[in-house]
Amino acid sequence: MRKQIAAGNWKMNLSLEEGQTLCHALKSADRPQNVLTILGVPCPYLKSMHDICIDDSICIAAQNVHHEKNGAYTGETSVSMVKSLGIDYVIIGHSERREYQKESNEMLKTKVDLALEASLTPIFCCGESLDVRKSGAQNDFVSQQLKESLFHLEGADFSKLIIAYEPIWAIGTGETASPQQAQDMHHALRTFIAAQYGQDIANGISILYGGSVKPGNAKEIFGQADVDGGLVGGASLKADDFTQIIHSF
Ligand code: PGA
Repeated sequence: MRKQIAAGNWKMNLSLEEGQTLCHALKSADRPQNVLTILGVPCPYLKSMHDICIDDSICIAAQNVHHEKNGAYTGETSVSMVKSLGIDYVIIGHSERREYQKESNEMLKTKVDLALEASLTPIFCCGESLDVRKSGAQNDFVSQQLKESLFHLEGADFSKLIIAYEPIWAIGTGETASPQQAQDMHHALRTFIAAQYGQDIANGISILYGGSVKPGNAKEIFGQADVDGGLVGGASLKADDFTQIIHSF
């Protein structure tokens, strides 16, 4: 039985106070026990949000970590710093970081290794651009991202991951992949994982869909056989919207 996960990604939004208010609202909302809720919050808020949520089955994720263990990297955050705050999850390879910070598959491979070594669970993001989708090469493109960043792992480590498929053309654009497009890609990824690690491991990995998930479309997307939840940007900033999404399984 795969974990059902509603993960929020606040990106670079909200003040500390707004974030705290949102966490308190989510905490007090009625939430189904079988859905794991994770909030990807800005680095300066990790401790505060973790302290608010700690007793309430809402987990906190960092949105990034650096690819070196420590050293002279002004402004960066290491896996051990994140872990020392009591945080258990980290988003790795979001398309915005791949694009703006030029994060390569090779660099993300290092981040995944460091995160696992520190017992942080990576939420590994993959997804194709509109050009790639138009050319019909999306399955190959996304499979390659997994292959280059993840397939060096032993099966036992690979099974600890959460994967988020986020077509870039659907992120923050209001345009969503259709439930069938999401299912097709998730199924393709699971098949690709099965070829590398076997069906049992492939069946156990939670694959989230991301890209303009909203209360109005979450149910249909999460209802697809290979979709195990969502990584939600904009709609995770509003307690009511995100609570509705958490209830969409
Ligand atoms: P969005 O962002 O829900 O605002 O499209 C998703 C993401 O980037 O994780």
